[in-house]
Amino acid sequence: MSTTSFDNLVKAIKKGKKVTFFNGAGISTSAGIPDFRSPDTGLYSNLAKLNLPYAEAVFDIEYFREDPKAFYTLVKELMPGQFPPTKFHYLLKLFQDKGQLKRVYTQNIDTLERLAGIDDEYIVEAHGSFASNRCIDCKKEMSSETVKKLMNKGIPSCETCDGYVKPDIVFFGEGLPEKFFSCWNGDCEDVDIAIIAGTSLTVHPFASLPSEVHKNCIRVLANKEKVGDLGSRKNDILAVCGCDEFAEKLARILQWDVELNKMYEDGQKKYGKQENSTEEKTNEIKTKLKENDEKDVKDEEANENEDVSKLVEKLKI
Ligand code: OAD
Ligand code: ZN
Repeated sequence: MSTTSFDNLVKAIKKGKKVTFFNGAGISTSAGIPDFRSPDTGLYSNLAKLNLPYAEAVFDIEYFREDPKAFYTLVKELMPGQFPPTKFHYLLKLFQDKGQLKRVYTQNIDTLERLAGIDDEYIVEAHGSFASNRCIDCKKEMSSETVKKLMNKGIPSCETCDGYVKPDIVFFGEGLPEKFFSCWNGDCEDVDIAIIAGTSLTVHPFASLPSEVHKNCIRVLANKEKVGDLGSRKNDILAVCGCDEFAEKLARILQWDVELNKMYEDGQKKYGKQENSTEEKTNEIKTKLKENDEKDVKDEEANENEDVSKLVEKLKI
């Protein structure tokens, strides 16, 4: 682990200062969920088979409107319910239990913070979640059970207007939930300790939050690589390492490690043993995409009218 000293962080925690977390996909990779932008293992580097005009199109609302198949190919892999929370998630729970959690801003749609026991009042799911679904045209809601059922037969569509239905995760081209803005308005001036973890800080407006906190805030980066402007302020602490490694180290210093390990082990028992490494998961997704591609070839043979190039051209504009 490459770190600067944790002394100021530990002092501030011991004084009773509260912690605000800013999470990204890297906090869940050890649960078996791939992140987006890591070379080789990240989701975006493994989407070639979907013939997307660019990787992020899989989460782009205009692309979804034209062709929702790419998203629905992946969605089965990403749906919550198959992955247990990590040690890092339980570190958040410990801060909540000690009365020292201010807020958890997360870009993740995997709901693992909730599964680890973080209460709704603390969680801001900036990019939405799988908890609800609606028609992209008339906005009529559809239950997750119905979506799951319809997904097995094809793309879920609205019973009223026949528009495609998608989970309420925020796609590129869509606005963030109101809770994101209202919470941040209230919290922004009041973040004394910020822990930024497992994110490349590339997607705005989330990516700019850590630079909006006040100058005396202790900003801690727990990430495999240096990102954003972290390291540019004198109070910044860089922990360039895995998120779980960071959680273990901080818990050890605070003497919370016995509790952390117990929570983690209980979580593993309750939500299933971690069955897949990120690499195995990525391979599974690659296989799925290959199957999908082969099916596409058959579909294309059967339907010569499908004009993908037109769509690609349109999206390039
Ligand atoms: P990214 O995939 O862009 O970044 C993940 C970061 O976590 C990278 O800097 C990795 O090096 C780091 N990382 C990976 N595994 C780690 C581990 N075990 N420990 C520590 N660091 C690790 O993911 P996000 O920043 O979350 O949006 O991506 C932001 C948004 O882009 C997502 O919410 C998603 C995506 O498009 C939507 O779907 C709307
Ligand atoms: Zn509709």
